[in-house]
Amino acid sequence: MLDTLRINARLAMAFIYDFARYRRFSFVAHQTSRGNRRAIIRIFTHYLEGGMAFPNVRLGYGQDKAASVMTKLRSYHADFGVDETVLWALATLKSYFAYHAERDFDLSGLARDFDALSENFAAVGQEIRGGTEEVTAAKIRAAGMIDFEQFMQHRHSVRQYAPGPVDDEIIARVVRNTQQCPSVCNRQTCKVYAINNLESVQAALAFQAGNAGFRQDIQTVFVVTSNVSEMNLIGERYQGWIDGGIFAMTLALAIHAEGLGACFLNWSVEPAQDRAMRNHLGIADDELVITMMSAGHLKEAFSVPVSHRKPLEDVLTLNPSNS
Ligand SMILES: Cc1cc2nc3c(=O)[nH]c(=O)nc-3n(C[C@H](O)[C@H](O)[C@H](O)COP(=O)(O)O)c2cc1C
Repeated sequence: MLDTLRINARLAMAFIYDFARYRRFSFVAHQTSRGNRRAIIRIFTHYLEGGMAFPNVRLGYGQDKAASVMTKLRSYHADFGVDETVLWALATLKSYFAYHAERDFDLSGLARDFDALSENFAAVGQEIRGGTEEVTAAKIRAAGMIDFEQFMQHRHSVRQYAPGPVDDEIIARVVRNTQQCPSVCNRQTCKVYAINNLESVQAALAFQAGNAGFRQDIQTVFVVTSNVSEMNLIGERYQGWIDGGIFAMTLALAIHAEGLGACFLNWSVEPAQDRAMRNHLGIADDELVITMMSAGHLKEAFSVPVSHRKPLEDVLTLNPSNS
């Protein structure tokens, strides 16, 4: 009985720990931090961008969003200067107004606002691509046709590595490729802390229990986080974990695609342990720690667990119905 009460209390404290972070940093109740303000610009920009990629574009859509992005962009830029969010929003607005102008759809006052905004931002002198781009099935197939079954059959959680850390250049490429994974409204809330200096690797690994049997072999470790300051709405309270999981899995596949090995290292911890690692690595309070992951060079031959998979029918329900 006492044990049950203790467990319930610890569980409640852990939920409160997560609740407090979401309540304090997300913008369920306020739009004050840079992350909050960046996210709202990204949400509306994504709306404008996505609208041009529908099968039947509804001309004149999103005018309230376009007006709002322009207002928010001005104040965001005044406070924080130019960053990728500013450039992406500008590029998308440019494309949105050009799209309507090419189709003789009159956005009148709003279009004049955009011209004024463009003049203000002309001095920025940097432009990135925005709006939509044309792709073809042939190009996608030509570039994407790897033998995915074989690729997946040969991905294993690797728990023994050849000596030597993964070098900075490969880490940069792996993370760059990982960034291509989808994220809610293209908010891209995830970050990677990559450590490939032996002493620091071992110090970071000491916070995680699941690497105990192979810690001595690990010379590169990643920590994946997701920032809740870019999360809105009560309904998005788990979105950071979801985007973080998608990002982390893509990271594992990107490592595999380099011919290297990786192993997820769970961050299934209680608040005290979470706080301790955050302090050690300087991870900000508005980030969720999603997972750790070891990575390294493959030995020429080594063992991995078979890790048998459940039958397909336990996992797949085709055309579900309750009759
Ligand atoms: C979120 C997550 C956390 C994991 N944590 C650990 C861990 O702490 N230590 C470990 O050795 N393996 C860990 N694993 C690896 C799993 O044990 C492994 O994926 C599973 O047994 C299937 O084996 P496979 O990845 O080789 O196919 C983790 C996997 C996931 C997805």
